[in-house]
Amino acid sequence: MSSRDSAMYPVEFKVNGEKRAIRVRAADILIHTLRNTIGLTGSKSGCENGDCGTCTILVEGLPIKSCLMLTVEADGKQITTIEGLTNSPIQNAFVQNQAFQCGYCTPGFIVNCVGLQNMLPHADEETIRVWLESNICRCTSYEEIHNAVKDVFR
Ligand code: FES
Ligand code: FES
Repeated sequence: MSSRDSAMYPVEFKVNGEKRAIRVRAADILIHTLRNTIGLTGSKSGCENGDCGTCTILVEGLPIKSCLMLTVEADGKQITTIEGLTNSPIQNAFVQNQAFQCGYCTPGFIVNCVGLQNMLPHADEETIRVWLESNICRCTSYEEIHNAVKDVFR
């Protein structure tokens, strides 16, 4: 490892409204920083390849897979994780529709749906279906998840 690989860089951002000032390596990815440095373990680490969606967070209100973002790229940004959402309509709809089993994928689905609400508040059924393709669930049939999301866009 070269000295450049191990050098630490200052990064400041807001997570769930709270200012954070930390030091990270250039190669640190945001999902690891959120979970291991900041201690917000709601966002899950799955494929770390951009495929499963378990790590989805909001950056400036837009859904981002945090395994694909370097922590230094988040400097100056506003971040929302699942811990920053309380009693939101989509969380309630997941409960009402029993849209989870183990729950590993659930934070990513919920945050991604809040991102959809932010970007396309009148999304139709086809848009919702395509949008949800960015998240994988290994437990449910997807039907309950789709029903939960459709409920909040009715
Ligand atoms: S862990 Fe980020 S998309 Fe799978
Ligand atoms: S509820 Fe288990 S992975 Fe989705």
